[in-house]
Amino acid sequence: MDTKNEILRILRLSGGSVSGQELSGRIGISRTAVWKHIRALQEEGYEIEAVNRKGYRLVGVPDTIASGEVGSWLDTERMGREIRYFASIDSTNQYAKRIAENEEAKDGTLVIADEQTAGKGRSGRHWVTPPKEAIACSLLLRPRLAPELISMVTLVMGLAVARAVNSLYEIHAGIKWPNDIVVKGKKLCGILTEMSAEIGEVHYIVIGFGINANLTWFPEEIRLVATSLKLETGHEVNRAQLIAGVMEEFERLYGLFEEDGSLKRLQDDYNALSVNRNQPVRVLDPKGEYTGCSRGIDEEGALIVETQNGEIHRVVSGEVSVRGIYGYV
Ligand code: BTN
Repeated sequence: MDTKNEILRILRLSGGSVSGQELSGRIGISRTAVWKHIRALQEEGYEIEAVNRKGYRLVGVPDTIASGEVGSWLDTERMGREIRYFASIDSTNQYAKRIAENEEAKDGTLVIADEQTAGKGRSGRHWVTPPKEAIACSLLLRPRLAPELISMVTLVMGLAVARAVNSLYEIHAGIKWPNDIVVKGKKLCGILTEMSAEIGEVHYIVIGFGINANLTWFPEEIRLVATSLKLETGHEVNRAQLIAGVMEEFERLYGLFEEDGSLKRLQDDYNALSVNRNQPVRVLDPKGEYTGCSRGIDEEGALIVETQNGEIHRVVSGEVSVRGIYGYV
């Protein structure tokens, strides 16, 4: 962690005043250097009170998801150790793919943007990312896993987002298979995973997630099916803290998935959060639509659907869509 972020982290965790001497001792820099970093933080919009003898106290933070702010919340070893932040960009997924190809960017690099001008959703749809309100991130990974296992990573990210939201706020976020995060039947987050691979070998993957954090307005066409954390909790949320929370959850869950090459240790948690489980669903299979009851995912991430005559179908993500009988969920 760079020195400025470390100062920020110490001030945040202390909740009170920390003396210049203590900061200089803990970080191993001079008191003058501490003071210079404090000045730099103040220039970035952090309100830091400097009280004679008592030291420094963090009293206000800017509403930002710039690298330093996310970094000062982050407690991970692999995910987000390198952050690239943009006030505005076409699409964080596109950028992550570019740096994976052209700059050999590292495994775990996290791309964050405050606004996307060409945000991509699944099936070629547009993803709305208005400035300063949304969360748009893409995580670059270079997994040593077979290409056919990669579709499961999207489910791991879905679980990570739902768990982070549920641990930070007093709301209940569930997962609509395979990877939409929903609150009270409306979509809060979408995930788009892209992969570069050849037969038997993955070059890299980019897992993009878009969370409707502080949005209060949605375009007409998605108004009935979309929601945001601000609308559901009744207050603005700290986007940097949430991004860090997602990275921490993802690091732990992805570690289990990578070790097993399957979701066998994540399946129960995923199913417990699934909004489809034991609910009637309509499977929009190109070979023919059918309805049944969802029984949750298996350890490869396929949705198990039981039809009325007792037949069991394994629905594999990517091939088909699943809808609730009464609407989107
Ligand atoms: C969906 O259609 O549900 C997936 C939406 C994924 C949106 C995110 S926002 C960050 C990343 N960059 C993009 O262009 N798309 C993903």
